[in-house]
Amino acid sequence: MRLTASWIALLQLVFLELVSASAPILRPRQYDTREYYALHLSPDAIPQDVAGHLGLEFEGKIGELDHHYLFSGPKSDSDVVSEYRRRRKSKRDAGANDDVILFAEKQKVKQLEKRIPHPPILRRSAPLVRASHDPNLLQRFQEISEKLDLHDPIFHEQWHLFNTVEKGHDVNVTGLWIEGVTGHNSTVAIVDDGLDMYSDDLKDNYFAEGSWDFNDPGPEPKPRLSDDRHGTRCAGEIAAVRNNVCGVGVAYDSKVAGIRILSKQISDADEAVALNYAYQKNQIYSCSWGPPDDGRSMEAPGILIKKAILKGINEGRQGKGSIFVFASGNGAASGDNCNFDGYTNSIYSITVGAIDRKGNHPYYSEHCSAQMVVTYSSGSGDAIHTTDVGKNQCYSGHGGTSAAAPLAAGIFALVLSVRPDLSWRDLQYLSMDTAVPINTDDGMWDKTATGKLYSHRYGFGKLDAYAIVQAAKTFQPVKPQAWYKSPVIMVNHEIPQGPKGLRSEIEITKDMLKEANLARVEHIQVHMNAKHGKRGDMSVDLVSPKGIVSHIATKRDLDNSAAGYQDWDFMTVKHWGEDGEGVWSIIIRDTEVNEYTGSLTDWSITLWGESINADRAGPHPLPGEEGHQTATERPTSTAKIMTTDIPSSWAHDHAQATGNPTDHPTRPVNAKPTSTNVSGSAPTAEADEDKSGFLPSFLPTFGVSAKTQAWIYGSFVVIAAFIAAVAVYLVKQRRKQKAREDGMNYEFEALNNDDLEEGAPRVQGQAGAAAGGRRKARDLYDAFGASDDESELFSDDEDNDDHEKGYYDDEAARGLDESSKGRDGDREKLLGRQHR
Ligand SMILES: *[C@@H]1O[C@H](CO)[C@@H](O)[C@H](O)[C@H]1NC(C)=O
Ligand SMILES: *[C@@H]1O[C@H](CO)[C@@H](O)[C@H](O)[C@H]1NC(C)=O
Ligand SMILES: *[C@@H]1O[C@H](CO)[C@@H](O)[C@H](O)[C@H]1NC(C)=O
Repeated sequence: MRLTASWIALLQLVFLELVSASAPILRPRQYDTREYYALHLSPDAIPQDVAGHLGLEFEGKIGELDHHYLFSGPKSDSDVVSEYRRRRKSKRDAGANDDVILFAEKQKVKQLEKRIPHPPILRRSAPLVRASHDPNLLQRFQEISEKLDLHDPIFHEQWHLFNTVEKGHDVNVTGLWIEGVTGHNSTVAIVDDGLDMYSDDLKDNYFAEGSWDFNDPGPEPKPRLSDDRHGTRCAGEIAAVRNNVCGVGVAYDSKVAGIRILSKQISDADEAVALNYAYQKNQIYSCSWGPPDDGRSMEAPGILIKKAILKGINEGRQGKGSIFVFASGNGAASGDNCNFDGYTNSIYSITVGAIDRKGNHPYYSEHCSAQMVVTYSSGSGDAIHTTDVGKNQCYSGHGGTSAAAPLAAGIFALVLSVRPDLSWRDLQYLSMDTAVPINTDDGMWDKTATGKLYSHRYGFGKLDAYAIVQAAKTFQPVKPQAWYKSPVIMVNHEIPQGPKGLRSEIEITKDMLKEANLARVEHIQVHMNAKHGKRGDMSVDLVSPKGIVSHIATKRDLDNSAAGYQDWDFMTVKHWGEDGEGVWSIIIRDTEVNEYTGSLTDWSITLWGESINADRAGPHPLPGEEGHQTATERPTSTAKIMTTDIPSSWAHDHAQATGNPTDHPTRPVNAKPTSTNVSGSAPTAEADEDKSGFLPSFLPTFGVSAKTQAWIYGSFVVIAAFIAAVAVYLVKQRRKQKAREDGMNYEFEALNNDDLEEGAPRVQGQAGAAAGGRRKARDLYDAFGASDDESELFSDDEDNDDHEKGYYDDEAARGLDESSKGRDGDREKLLGRQHR
């Protein structure tokens, strides 16, 4: 009897192995009538047996996740797996030891609502564009077309590939095509709402093996809903065939797969399968969606999705790592920031923002310290011209950061076509190394420790296809990844309201980094817990030992949540290349003086980077796996804390003014804690005396205290404040000067009547576009239901912006130089991912 059971078990195991070696099992889901449970089982468990015990049906393996299976049962409010586990636990307590369920999650379905459909695009007509062609560029364009035998009818409209009007505002790809670098042997998967594989412009480059429809399960991700057009348009940007239909893709000989997930409800388990789908063949996953960009959401992928992303990084592309490209988000006009989106602020994704055909920052493209690069999309009266759903259909209004991410993905396809051996991190190095800073005079750029420029708005700059591929040809792959994870620093201290911030520090020594096998820093994550009555009032800066400042969390006026930051990971790429050694500090602020107050509970920092010794490096364990430590499992230490008068805008503007941030220490030398766990968290008189750790204000301390440390602190702050004031004053003067020079154009130029663009639905407010620049911008904004608070951001009074407030304010900064603003006020409360 026992023997038979074992045999059956063995056969089942063999069967499962066979099945999992081929395509994943993807049975149609019935979310209306059934519940789905994702289980991580111990390796020796037989899922069919487990199903029997639970009274559930076995649905199959969850993609590439080892020992993860999906089960289903009839619709019910209860969680039958939890109940089962509870019952077992009470038995186990009585002696039984049979817990084969390592993790279980009842699946919630998210209706993957798309972004509100954009109104029809009133595109400015082709003759208008042609009227301003530069004759030299036009001639060059014709030569290139002839040389490449390129006769696609809308190629001449594809300014993002070769701009014959605004010189240099394209991805600089044609030189590569002439060299023969066109994307051969590269494959990009479009994770979206489908892909029209029967389009004459796509069918020759369609990669069926890498494609799947998760919404209407089956191998063909065909667009079915009337607005399932987004994925096809993205695919066209990458791999539209060089033929006589529409235009061409940036990598027009690459292959493109469609993974359809955005058109119906989907669970985390299915999304996890999707992000690893055919991950040995699909090299790049282009993702133009995410949590709502409403300026108040703060959502991260669920644990199954996190596991899948890391699985793809560790094992996808024969271990070199899947390339995940994410659009930064379209919520900038709502004050959103891509560090509040767990997909874009993942270290495993390359976050791509947008610039428009004039190289301007479009009103929608989000800022954040996790942003790597930008590339072209809609704005300044035009959009991306690409393939549409249909046999021979083109589209001239593709836009938002949605259109920027696939363009980047296509450029990465060109890179991989010459260097398929490069790792996911190599590609990030290349992006950073070759990105071209743009609009460097707009006051948003800082020098990093390695001498590169970085902007929270543009990342390291715009992608240049030619430059990145040339650099890739000789790129020396970097050593495997290593990481240093700090203890959790327990703070439990209120955040002062007003311009002061609460500062907390940790010192990381050379020995700690050596022990962690970490040679130099790449990404940095700050894990945080903070409580607040209005989350959007808080902002956080990270200051490195080299004095580089990342604005890891920004104020968000629309974020009224009382949930605070809960186990949130903020991320920054700005410290790339630093050695990591020294004191790292965070400064958390609550600049709005109101009834909503908050406190910082705890934080920890992870330095991710290149290993010293490749042999000692290994892949990072998946969440829930042996060796993986959640933040709550890390050792803790008590914090040394202090309030600080130093506004981060100082560091920002100062660096801008001098061009050398490392000349200036950003923290008082004596504030360095002797260890990370100095004394208790509450500010006591003792702490005050001890190391001037708690300074209520710099003035009382300065000169009053006999203690040298306090004196140093005081003088430092005075000097810093003075330099900051001068720097800010100079920058202001320059901005004003520039605003004067630019006259009304500055705010204005994009407000002409033919400026409707995708992602910029102008419901009203168009009519009066000819009147008064700034006022216009505000009217336009108001027309979309903005609160009074926000319209202040666009007020005429420049002196009312960030420096007076004493903190860095994305929104105020944004208000200074945007060429257009508009907002869809009809924001629904969206539950799922949104199109970008
Ligand atoms: C753009 O490509 C051309 C070759 O076609 C190259 O000479 C030029 O340097 C590239 N531009 C940049 C900024 O690298
Ligand atoms: C594509 O890959 C195959 C096999 O690896 C190789 O023989 C071929 O030269 C590659 N083609 C190009 C254009 O790189
Ligand atoms: C800091 O914490 C470590 C371990 O948690 C402990 O060994 C050490 O004595 C502490 N140092 C101080 C100054 O409290």
